[in-house]
Amino acid sequence: MSTVYVALSADFIHAGHINILKTARELGDVIIGLLTDEAIATYKRLPVLDYDQRKMLVENIIGVSKVIPQETLDYTENLREIKPDYVVHGTDWRTGVQKITRERVIEILKEWGGKLIEPEYTENLSSSDLIRDKFGIGTTPDARMKKLRRLINLKPLVRIIEVHNGLTGRIVEEVKITEGETIREFDGMWISSLTDSTAKGKPDTEYVDITSRLQTINEIFDVTTKPLILDGDTGGLPEHFHLTVRTLERYGVSAVIIEDKIGPKRNSLFGADVQQTQDTIDNFSFKINIGKKAQITESFMIIARIESFILKKGLEDALKRAKAYIEAGADGIMIHSKEKTPKEILDFCDEYSKFEKKVPLVAVPSTFSTITEDELIDAGVKIVIYANHLLRSAYPSMIKTAKSILMNRRCHEASEVNCIPIKEIIRLIPGAE
Ligand code: SPV
Ligand code: MG
Repeated sequence: MSTVYVALSADFIHAGHINILKTARELGDVIIGLLTDEAIATYKRLPVLDYDQRKMLVENIIGVSKVIPQETLDYTENLREIKPDYVVHGTDWRTGVQKITRERVIEILKEWGGKLIEPEYTENLSSSDLIRDKFGIGTTPDARMKKLRRLINLKPLVRIIEVHNGLTGRIVEEVKITEGETIREFDGMWISSLTDSTAKGKPDTEYVDITSRLQTINEIFDVTTKPLILDGDTGGLPEHFHLTVRTLERYGVSAVIIEDKIGPKRNSLFGADVQQTQDTIDNFSFKINIGKKAQITESFMIIARIESFILKKGLEDALKRAKAYIEAGADGIMIHSKEKTPKEILDFCDEYSKFEKKVPLVAVPSTFSTITEDELIDAGVKIVIYANHLLRSAYPSMIKTAKSILMNRRCHEASEVNCIPIKEIIRLIPGAE
């Protein structure tokens, strides 16, 4: 009996898959190479169903005799091991991002005289499109909340960017670039206190309270599915923090980051230019602990943000605090800096890597912006937050438009140079026509 190999992600089974499997089982014994969650996460967004759930689905399709994991997008390892007589895949991969994978499969099959069989691709039936239609907008609080921990487990670095309203949420949801075989996009959102306050024309001093922040989150959640990390400022009074944690869980927020400062909060990037006071280790550990005890789910994360570098307290203080906050139950550590170079952050990471008990590390490279994602991965950072960039780029553009209209006493120049065309803006949001 011939062996037939079919690679699938099978997050969403449709008639196109069944077509391919029908062809495959007519050729012989069908082995499915089921892409692992890690493999899928390298080239597109997380699957809705996890590996075990997808495996159960595929195992029960008629004609499938075995399901094995395919650990990478590349077929090479599994093909060399199984040496199938046939590989079956729809014609759709002849163009686009999968073209290179296809060429490699053909080359490898030549080693033992295997053949690639390509049934006609079922037009208009791509899982990605269907998933977009069915699940595009829509998730549950629980599923959204869990996504952050899933991402931390699956990806070398979780890429997060700032949002402050529904539109920025839509940008983070949809913007992607294709590079070779991979699609690169943002994994989740950061609702920054700086940009959430600034977008409302308010100072970043904890004046925009949790009720207002939740309203913004609700608007963002209405139009997105990706996980969100809340910049929780100081977390407020410990007596209030446990209530905040419960509310955030109920909304489906994945994590809150609280910073170890007290008194009137000022943005960290002011550094020593303004009066800022760090909390004691004991008090802040107590706050973390109260939050952890309030949690109902296992998924929600409380991440402790260390302000020692911001307040010029040095590396030793930062490390001492990291150890204490982990002991108090923190699910992650954010180490912040306002230096132009990443040196102090990297020094911290070096020492942190020697800790016996570690939790995921978060970095916010606003000022040390030359550091690359690969360098952060090498340093052991698990989550990178681009904390303010959508608002910072929108603002100069809006000022330019306002000035252009004043200068020209009409809007023609601004419209032609600095604005998205009318025919595009009216269709920007799905469902507008
Ligand atoms: C924010 O985005 O509001 C932050 C990060 O807290 S920072 O502005 O760098 O302090
Ligand atoms: Mg902030």
